Amino acid sequence: MPNAHITGWGMSVPAKVLTNSDLSKIVATNDEWIRERTGIHQRYIAGEGETSSSLGTDAAFKALKLAGLLPTDLDLIICSTSSPEYIFPATACLIQDRLGASNAGAFDLLAACSGFIYGLNMGAQAIRSGSAKTVLVIGTETLSRFVNWEDRNTCILFGDGAGAFILQASEKPGGVMGSVMHSDGSGGDYLSIPASGSTNPASEITLRTGMHFIHMDGKEVFRFATRVMTQATHEAAQKSGWKTEDINLVVPHQANLRIIDAAARGLKLPIEKFMINLDRYGNTSTASIPIATVEAVQNGRLQPGDKVVFVGFGAGLTWGALAAEWSGPLPSEHYISAEWYKPWARVRSTLRRIWRALEELLFGRGG
Ligand code: COA
Repeated sequence: MPNAHITGWGMSVPAKVLTNSDLSKIVATNDEWIRERTGIHQRYIAGEGETSSSLGTDAAFKALKLAGLLPTDLDLIICSTSSPEYIFPATACLIQDRLGASNAGAFDLLAACSGFIYGLNMGAQAIRSGSAKTVLVIGTETLSRFVNWEDRNTCILFGDGAGAFILQASEKPGGVMGSVMHSDGSGGDYLSIPASGSTNPASEITLRTGMHFIHMDGKEVFRFATRVMTQATHEAAQKSGWKTEDINLVVPHQANLRIIDAAARGLKLPIEKFMINLDRYGNTSTASIPIATVEAVQNGRLQPGDKVVFVGFGAGLTWGALAAEWSGPLPSEHYISAEWYKPWARVRSTLRRIWRALEELLFGRGG
C-alpha cells in the first residue's frame, strides 16, 4: 500500500489588510477588546476580482511549483471551502480550469473549518487505495462576503485566504499517519448561514432579515472547540502509534488564541509546540491550517521527519485531526516549473470555450 506524502504547499491572501482599528470605525468594537478576547490584530479581505477560486489557484500553483509538478500531473482536486463561488459548479472545477489540470477529477468538500482535515484525509485515502497518485487539497475562503459587517460578534473574527497541499504516493515510509473525523449535527444551529440553501432560498425576506449572513453563538462554539481540540489530537496521535509528547508541532485551526491555549493545557504540551499566526490572518476557516503550515515551514519550525498534528473544528458541528510525518518534495521529473504553465492554462481554457461555441454553431445543441 503506498503512503501519502505531503510534497508541496502554498498559500495566498488578498492584497487588502483590515486592522482592528479599521474595524472600530465601522462597528462598535476596539483593538484592545479584539486582541484580548481573540488574539487577532488584523485580517485580509478580498477585493474586487479576488475570489475563492483565484486565491485557491494561486496557492495551488505555488504548491505545485514546490513539489516540482505540473497541473497535468494531478489526478484529483479536493477543494474544501465554506464560501464556494456557487452552489454549483464546484469551486474545485473553477480551480481545475484555471490550473489547466486536464487529467484531474475535482469536487468540493463542505465540512466548514474542519474541511481541510477532512480533505487531506480523503486525499490520503485515495492514494492509499491506489485510485490516485497525485492529489491537490485546497482550503480557500472569501467568508468576508458572508459576514454581517454590523455584527461585532462575528465580523471581527473572519479573514480571507487560501492554502494548498500536494499529496503524492510513495513507497517511502512516513507521510499521512492516523486521522480522525467527527461530527455532531445536533449543534448545527450554533454556527450557520441560514439562507440561500434549499431550505430558505434567497428571497426578499431572507435578505431583509439578514439570513444570508453568518450567524453564531460564540459562547457555545467556544465551549465545544475547547473540548474537542484536545480529544481529537490525542486520538490522531494514538492512531499513529505516537505518545502526545512525541509531537514536534501542532498546527491548530486558527480561530481564537484562548481556544489554542486551552488545547495546549489539555494536552499538557508547551504553547511553543503550537503554530499560531491568527494575529495576522484572523480565522480563515478551511485555509487557516495550510496557511499556518506554510509559515511554519518558512520559519524552520517544520522539518522533514517531524511529527506534526493538524487539528480543527467548525460548523456542522465537525471536528477532526490528522497526524503526519513531514516529508518535503520528492525528486521532480519536469524541467519546467508549474508557474510557466499559467499562461498556457489560460489559453487552454479560452480555446476550449471557443471550441464549444464553434461546435454549437456548426452542429447545434447536442451536436
Ligand atoms: N467588541 C467589543 N465588545 C464586544 C464585542 C466586540 N467585538 N463582542 C462582544 N462584546 C461585548 C459583549 O456585548 C459583552 O458585553 P456585556 O458584558 O456588556 O454584555 C462582552 O463584550 C463579552 O461578550 P461575550 O460574547 O461574552 O465575549 P466572549 O468572551 O465570549 O468572546 C467571542 C466572544 C466570539 C470572541 C468568543 O465567544 C469566541 O471566540 N467564540 C468562538 C467563535 C469561533 O471560533 N467561531 C468560529 C468557529 S470555526
